[in-house]
Amino acid sequence: MSARRLIIDCDPGKDDAVAIWLAAASPELAIDRVIAVGGNVGLARTSANARAVLDIIGRTTIPVFAGCDRPLLRVLETAPHVHGESGIDGADLPASATPVALGRGAVALVEAVMAADAPITVAALGPLTNLAVAMTLEPGLAARIERLVIMGGGFRKANMTPFAEFNIYVDPHAAAIVLGSGAPITLVPLDVTREVLATVPWLDRLAVMPGPAPRATAGMYRISPDLALHDPCVVAWLLRPNLFAGRRARVEVVTDDGPEIGRTLMQEGGEPGIDVLLEVDADGVRDLIARRLESL
Ligand code: RIB
Ligand code: CA
Repeated sequence: MSARRLIIDCDPGKDDAVAIWLAAASPELAIDRVIAVGGNVGLARTSANARAVLDIIGRTTIPVFAGCDRPLLRVLETAPHVHGESGIDGADLPASATPVALGRGAVALVEAVMAADAPITVAALGPLTNLAVAMTLEPGLAARIERLVIMGGGFRKANMTPFAEFNIYVDPHAAAIVLGSGAPITLVPLDVTREVLATVPWLDRLAVMPGPAPRATAGMYRISPDLALHDPCVVAWLLRPNLFAGRRARVEVVTDDGPEIGRTLMQEGGEPGIDVLLEVDADGVRDLIARRLESL
């Protein structure tokens, strides 16, 4: 069976880095390109981090494109208190010698999906600004994406305000466009990702592995205030969907200015429906990540 072509839109970000490594270590997936967005840290850093994350495992031919450096309407709010000023504090990766690809990320996303002779899956691991711009640029994009798997939102959990999750909170207007687009979407919210923590035994297991990716993962998470493996859950679902369970619902985003901006609301039976994951086998996901990272 041929590998599933994958575009990763991300804001590395510690957990984004682990998600990229998990995808790169998995023969079921073929990373076509990586597109950075302003999020955990500014775009210059998320782009450089994506480049460094790929280069350290020798994947210098996978292009990294710089996407949007700010949300559609709001001012960018970053999360250096979680990821460090660099965005990947503790990874101790050498700076990349590979340049970021020419061209804007949203355009690169449209070009790849619309020109593809085989379906392309997109993993969205940061604020959804690039996806919203791409869908606006090319109205046929939503229907053409094979599956859009998004880390974002929370229904019983939040992490940026008492109501909202970071990726959705940073750009709620983009999230409303994307979640209402009718694209085939699987949403991986905090309800799932907060269950998959980088435990000390798991970090100890990675720390003694010979390759740079598991060691960098251990280095990042040993000093991280957020131990949740948010973004790797997106790739884990692509690899082992049976480790997760959920239901179909419409998901709305609060976009009005106020305390609940960025909140996600689930409406069972509403249209367009998306697949919302709500349960996870956390041990199974951690074991999958460890086994795959051992090869990097
Ligand atoms: O809320 C967690 C999400 O926001 C993750 O994708 C993390 O990397 C940040 O982008
Ligand atoms: Ca992210």
